[in-house]
Amino acid sequence: MITKIVEVKGLYKSYLQAGHGRLDVIQNVNFEIGKSQTVAITGQSGSGKTTLMALLAGLDTPDAGEILIDGQNLNFMNEDALAKFRAKNIGIIFQQFHLMPHLVAEENVSLPLEILKAKDIKDRTDLALKEVGLESRKSHLPSQLSGGECQRVAIARAIVVKPAILLADEPTGNLDTKTGEQVANLLFDLVANSAMTLIVVTHNMELANRCDRAFKLDAGQLVEL
Ligand SMILES: Nc1ncnc2c1ncn2[C@@H]1O[C@H](COP(=O)(O)OP(=O)(O)O)[C@@H](O)[C@H]1O
Ligand SMILES: [Mg+2]
Repeated sequence: MITKIVEVKGLYKSYLQAGHGRLDVIQNVNFEIGKSQTVAITGQSGSGKTTLMALLAGLDTPDAGEILIDGQNLNFMNEDALAKFRAKNIGIIFQQFHLMPHLVAEENVSLPLEILKAKDIKDRTDLALKEVGLESRKSHLPSQLSGGECQRVAIARAIVVKPAILLADEPTGNLDTKTGEQVANLLFDLVANSAMTLIVVTHNMELANRCDRAFKLDAGQLVEL
């Protein structure tokens, strides 16, 4: 019996667009993901992949439906509880890295631990930087790092709290083919060597094929491939 880490039931999300009426992006999406599974979400640009990730991360609220992460219903959490829950349980990686430009690599990586007022911040930060192979770059600013290195810093920041779930929204979309492959390999190695569940949005079918399961978002519906 696989333990469920994500349960999504009857999820709906629309946007009101000035002059264009209502855009129904997510329409009755239902799925479950087991602990430690790797899952790809594909779909055309504008199909709602980032919207779905934002809902899963609790960064946005659905119009209807429920999201349970590790059995906990996001609907029942207020802003504070949600922020804490997210910091502890969900690592997020973006296409554009979203690093703090004025902080060096190790300061970017330690941020989630600072927010959680965790213990052993220095040791855990060093370990995460080592896991992504960037010990020697820890005092560099993002502007002094390559795109691949920036994404590795972002990955270290996402895994430093040992989250149950890693959400990656087109993590290789901003990298050249070779660097993208290296970053994808790193991501899959990290997930394989931990109990983390990976949900990755990607246009790259090679990356999608490496996942245990793949879904396509199309016209508001999520279909398993
Ligand atoms: N905050 C918003 N307000 C209005 N429309 C939005 C907003 N966010 C996204 N959209 C629209 O919702 C659709 C899905 O967007 P998105 O989730 O970013 O798709 P994807 O990540 O698959 O490219 C797009 O048509 C986009 O323009
Ligand atoms: Mg997107």
